[in-house]
Amino acid sequence: MDKYIVNGGQSLHGEVEISGAKNAAVAIIPAALLVEGVCRIENIPQISDTDMLLTILAELGAHVSYVNRSTIEIDCTNARYQDAPYDLMRKIRASYYLIGSMLGRFGSAKTTMPGGCNFGVRPIDQHIKGMTALGATINIKNGFVYAETEDGRLHGARIYLDKVSVGATMNIMIAAVLASGRTIIENAAREPHIVDLANFLNSMGADVRGAGTDTIKINGVERLHGGTYTIIPDQIEAGTYMVAAAATGGEVLIKNVIPKHLEGISAKLRETGTIVQEYEDAVLVKGASTLRKINLKTMPYPGFPTDMQPQFGVLLCLANGTSVITEGIYDNRFKYVNELRKMGAEIQVDGRVAVIEGGRRLSGALVQACDLRAGAAMVIAGMVANGTTEIEDVHYIERGYERFVEKLCALGADIRVDEEQETEQGRDNLVYVG
Ligand code: EPU
Repeated sequence: MDKYIVNGGQSLHGEVEISGAKNAAVAIIPAALLVEGVCRIENIPQISDTDMLLTILAELGAHVSYVNRSTIEIDCTNARYQDAPYDLMRKIRASYYLIGSMLGRFGSAKTTMPGGCNFGVRPIDQHIKGMTALGATINIKNGFVYAETEDGRLHGARIYLDKVSVGATMNIMIAAVLASGRTIIENAAREPHIVDLANFLNSMGADVRGAGTDTIKINGVERLHGGTYTIIPDQIEAGTYMVAAAATGGEVLIKNVIPKHLEGISAKLRETGTIVQEYEDAVLVKGASTLRKINLKTMPYPGFPTDMQPQFGVLLCLANGTSVITEGIYDNRFKYVNELRKMGAEIQVDGRVAVIEGGRRLSGALVQACDLRAGAAMVIAGMVANGTTEIEDVHYIERGYERFVEKLCALGADIRVDEEQETEQGRDNLVYVG
């Protein structure tokens, strides 16, 4: 398995270009299965997660081709219902979107239960509630999800989500676009990638309204046609570089972003004393000489995103005073704290609350990337630490950040990838948690 070797002490300076949004792409790729025609998708992030989904679509009979590094064409005209590569599916959380897209396209679906569960229990009961309301019969057996419809088609329904869920909202949207009649999703999630999925579907002929509010209305259509769509920039990738600039006391222009999507992150950074200047499609972040403590709580959008919590955890180790982070989405997203303690951080965790004694100078250590965002946080920790930090399990990071090491090194970081021989056994054990 590859390792990152990070030599601390460099502050980041320069410009970085943000890639397309992972959590939009991982829904839009499976949704392309609904389309009989060529979907040209621009601003696709080149990460292993999107690669795996494209491989799954190809196995279902899609024709997938790269036009250039960030543009692909997917033609699912000849896709057919058949067994898919389940070993890939079980590694990807977003494989749950294949339940919606296969049901919508074929009237049946067989998928694995989505992959690993690194931050507490992550049920898919709201996805199942939605599919069942649309007329599917769902059975879960031996780690597989089997979904069937009686007459080969889903039928519109009114669905109230008991929990605000990004995945369930998007999965039901995907399933409902080709259903007969009207579907209404109430208590829907409002993340930017939900709007992006709706825009993608509508550009292919769907009729989805209200995405970005808590009520989404979908009028089913008979078929979708091909078209061209550009994915929005990745809000969390942008936020990660913002924190990296703030933590290292650097100055970085983060380009190809939608500043509105970063409001929660920008607001909390400003509270620490960091300067954040917004431009039309860029933000400039200037690190403060002294960082102030803050309290933050993660919440569904437009609240502060849980996917930025570990990166802020590192930043607040450097701030003067005691900060409190409350995790409002997941039961157990503080695993990275153990790794930070190895570097000298003083953090107490009680359930969903972490109390961080700031003003610490971190020191290099051998640490693990516990999951995607925790891994990015460890890289930031390594960049601000004294000495050298070795980060293991970086495959998590590479599943969500395009060319992470390359982009950071272009900003002045000192990071080397130590490539080790990957074993078959090691590859099989990978479980994704995005
Ligand atoms: N939940 C349920 N039942 C469900 C679905 C969710 O109880 O059927 C709960 C979850 O356990 C959690 C909360 O509802 O406590 C919110 O979960 P949500 O469904 O919104 O999350 P998700 O769809 O599993 C996506 C992203 C995550 C991101 C969350 C929240 C993908 C593939 N994953 O997960 O991304 O943290 O939304 O924004 O889109 C990441 O990118 O690092 C990542 C983990």
